[in-house]
Amino acid sequence: MENTVVIGAQWGDEGKAKITDLLAQNADIIIRYQGGCNAGHTVVNEDKTFKFHLIPSGILYKNKICFIGAGTVIYPEVLNEEIENLKKENIDLSGLKISPLASITMPYHIDIDGYSEDSAKGSAKIGTTKKGIGPTYTDKVSRHGIKVQDLFDTDALAKKLDIILPLKNKELTLVYGLKPYSKEDIMDLCSKYAQIIKPYVCFEWQKLFHDAIKQNKKVLFEGAQGVMLDVDWGTYPYVTSSNPVAGGACTGSGFGPNMIKEVIGVSKAYITRVGEGPFATELKDATGDKIRNIGHEFGTTTGRPRRTGWFDAVVAKYGVLVSGLTSMAVTKLDVFDTFDEIKICTAYKDKRSGEILEYYPTNVNLHEFLEPVYETHAGWKTDITQAKTFEELPVNAQKYLQRLEELMGVRISVISVGADRHQTIFR
Ligand code: GDP
Ligand code: IMO
Ligand code: MG
Repeated sequence: MENTVVIGAQWGDEGKAKITDLLAQNADIIIRYQGGCNAGHTVVNEDKTFKFHLIPSGILYKNKICFIGAGTVIYPEVLNEEIENLKKENIDLSGLKISPLASITMPYHIDIDGYSEDSAKGSAKIGTTKKGIGPTYTDKVSRHGIKVQDLFDTDALAKKLDIILPLKNKELTLVYGLKPYSKEDIMDLCSKYAQIIKPYVCFEWQKLFHDAIKQNKKVLFEGAQGVMLDVDWGTYPYVTSSNPVAGGACTGSGFGPNMIKEVIGVSKAYITRVGEGPFATELKDATGDKIRNIGHEFGTTTGRPRRTGWFDAVVAKYGVLVSGLTSMAVTKLDVFDTFDEIKICTAYKDKRSGEILEYYPTNVNLHEFLEPVYETHAGWKTDITQAKTFEELPVNAQKYLQRLEELMGVRISVISVGADRHQTIFR
């Protein structure tokens, strides 16, 4: 099988959905394998802009299976909203399938996430999306989670809640000073959630996957967030609670590593980050504002202004390593069209010793002592939004991309010069 994984190679919002949507044309199954409605994935088709949180970005095509995998966390209220919005747009949802093994975000997860964020001070603040992601994954790992399949077995669910809910209520009231939930309330909610998910739940996923492998179907894995937000590999603790790295595609979907041929990382031509945590190349000046304004860098899920900065090749190289990237897609190159010069961070310098670091320092406490080492490239001062081939790009844009390739140690296979489908150069 010649399957492809698309992942974010920075701190999220790299334009994964645009790339996924384009590659989905040639795929049979598109799988979201981690994360939840913290993700905000934008697809612009011929007539409209769509924003997905949970539903895979292949849903705009007919006759594709769009699968929400076991490694995801699902808040049924948001899922329902997304489904209803797509129905209003007459989007065919017959291919939408949901794993019975995915975890359910309960209202108390949202309460805890919101409280933890609002009450956190200083470095304790993560800047989460307050969508209950961390608390849902915490419960999954501590084996107190509710899975999709639990919603369809009322007796077993009631027994499970007898164990979970008293503990949860103790945590809610004693630790956080929040209101407890009655078993009746939660059972009622779960019955509502079951109704939302019922038309899509795929208890026959083993046959579906088995047949897909036998029939050599093409599977496209759509990552959410990005390498630097990975709970194991990112800037911990300023991360999400799942595995956006390529390895997550296997654990979160149920397909093995031997099914994957290509791993495409997606990077912007610069970098953005929402929420707290180290960001070496951040620009807190007029240049940063210019990138934010031209690139419309405001969160899809929360509307928060994104932090902006120059491309960090140390980060990119790190992503190539920990996700085995076979190529990179570079998006938003057009945002630099009016820039006189563009910088690339090639290494970090330890301000204390003068030591040059070429590999990403994974201990976030070190970052206050580091500064980026930059090289400067001349801009191209040309509108590139209609370029169709690499050769049509101005020489300075070509040089910029070639230098990125050199520094990252990986080929750039896709260049995006605008949000529309046709504003894409495949090499
Ligand atoms: P994702 O979370 O990685 O899927 O990315 P988001 O959808 O959160 O953010 C990417 C934003 O950039 C969206 O608004 C896209 O429509 C837009 N976009 C994607 N590629 C390009 C590009 O090449 N140029 C410009 N100007 N916008 C782009
Ligand atoms: P997509 O898929 C950008 C960030 C949050 C916060 C941290 C933890 O659109 O790229 P969480 O709510 O997950 O516990 O928040 O992760 N974050 C994202 N940043 N894009 C995303 O998704 C994100 N999902 C979470 O801002 O810093
Ligand atoms: Mg996004």
